[in-house]
Amino acid sequence: MSKTSEQKHDMVMRLALERGFFFPASEIYSDAPAGFWDYGPLGTSLKKKFIEIWRRELVKRDDMIEIDGAQVLSRNVFIASGHLESFVDPIARCSKCKAIHRIDKLIEEETGIHVPERLNLNEIIEIVKEKNVRCPICRGELVDFSYFNMMFKLSIGAGGLEAYLRPETCQSIFVDFLRLFRVMRCKLPIGFAQIGKSFRNEISPRQGLLRMREFYQAEIEVFFNPKKANNHPKAEPLMDYKLRLMPYGSRGILDISCRDALEQKLISSKLVAYYLALIQQFYEKIGIPREKIRLRELGEDERAFYAIEAWDLEVETSLGWIELVACNNRGGYDLGGHQRVSGHEMTVVDDGEKVLPHIFELSMGIDRSLYCIIELGLQNGGRNILKINPELSPVQVAVLPLISKEPLVSKALEIYEMLKQEYDVVYDESGSIGRRYMRQDEIGTPYCITIDHQTLEDGTVTIRERDTTHQIRIKISELQEFLRSRFKK
Ligand code: GLY
Repeated sequence: MSKTSEQKHDMVMRLALERGFFFPASEIYSDAPAGFWDYGPLGTSLKKKFIEIWRRELVKRDDMIEIDGAQVLSRNVFIASGHLESFVDPIARCSKCKAIHRIDKLIEEETGIHVPERLNLNEIIEIVKEKNVRCPICRGELVDFSYFNMMFKLSIGAGGLEAYLRPETCQSIFVDFLRLFRVMRCKLPIGFAQIGKSFRNEISPRQGLLRMREFYQAEIEVFFNPKKANNHPKAEPLMDYKLRLMPYGSRGILDISCRDALEQKLISSKLVAYYLALIQQFYEKIGIPREKIRLRELGEDERAFYAIEAWDLEVETSLGWIELVACNNRGGYDLGGHQRVSGHEMTVVDDGEKVLPHIFELSMGIDRSLYCIIELGLQNGGRNILKINPELSPVQVAVLPLISKEPLVSKALEIYEMLKQEYDVVYDESGSIGRRYMRQDEIGTPYCITIDHQTLEDGTVTIRERDTTHQIRIKISELQEFLRSRFKK
């Protein structure tokens, strides 16, 4: 990590801890496992607002159907999904200090050699021997090579039935597909969406919200007839939208319309182009600068085991490009697997024809997205200002009496009570007004309302805007209208 990237990452972490956006779980205990984080009030509010925009811009806009599945699923689900067999990382133990290392990543760090996902254990051991890769802590010899399954195994009830915490939320959508399709009287293509926690027993969780063992996903699974992937009924309005595309093998990013990308056969179908456009547009609306976004196509050796085509939506931060959404064409893998293992036929009828639907997914990491929003929004010209989209601000309005004396305090509290039903508002009377503005700037509050002596004379207040620090004076009776025009979409 370079000095600057370290500084920006450290700045975010300091802000997160000091202002309570997020912090390590079980932190008062020395046995707290790494990779688990609690969201404090500001982080919770930011997350809630992010999810509301996700619902509006993706789920509602595309007429998707949202569900909320269980986090514990049966062993058979993960036999059918392939996770029991394939959701594994290669590991090795140091013969001297006993530390366990994820060996593919270690090879990459020590030698610069990229280890493809699908290399087998013997091939990995060969590289370790040939390149003399050793324990990075004590230079000891690496032994006991094996695969480690990243799912958390559970023992259910007194009888100890084996089950697992879900490593991705989407499995319940696949398992429930036939019921959902029937009860909602769906037709293909149809998108199902779900927000919830997923769990992965990462070997080395790190960098705060970027690699966690318990994390939030927002997943969209679009079921479609593979013969009609080029006739997607909703796609046309977005065909002139310009994607920031990085096809496999290309070094640069192409600013190219969906239509041109399809013509040049850079994307497999109109349906895929449409959903790539939707997801890029979502991040632009959230406030991520366009030039910081790319859709990078993964090669065969980088794709998850269930994907036949994969694009990662990545955002550039001080730590490099970070994957926020895995856009996977899962083909018929999932319904085919559940059909085989459960014995339930997973086909539906489309235009009189029996079809095993294919699936295209937009699998979003919420925590990572929040990290990127904070990092890209955080500006420091001597003091922190969190310049994020006001729609995402954890606190929307701060109400501040100029001094903490009556009758200003009562008047300010009256305004606070008036606004709190509709907005996320805080009341703050402690410290100088300048310090209070700074406290709000640091957490991204877009508007501060100040009550001063003139308020008592003519019923007006000042509104200070975060990014410009400009102040305007308006009547208290016009406050609601002012805020509604700023916050309601
Ligand atoms: N559902 C895909 C993923 O979790 O990455």
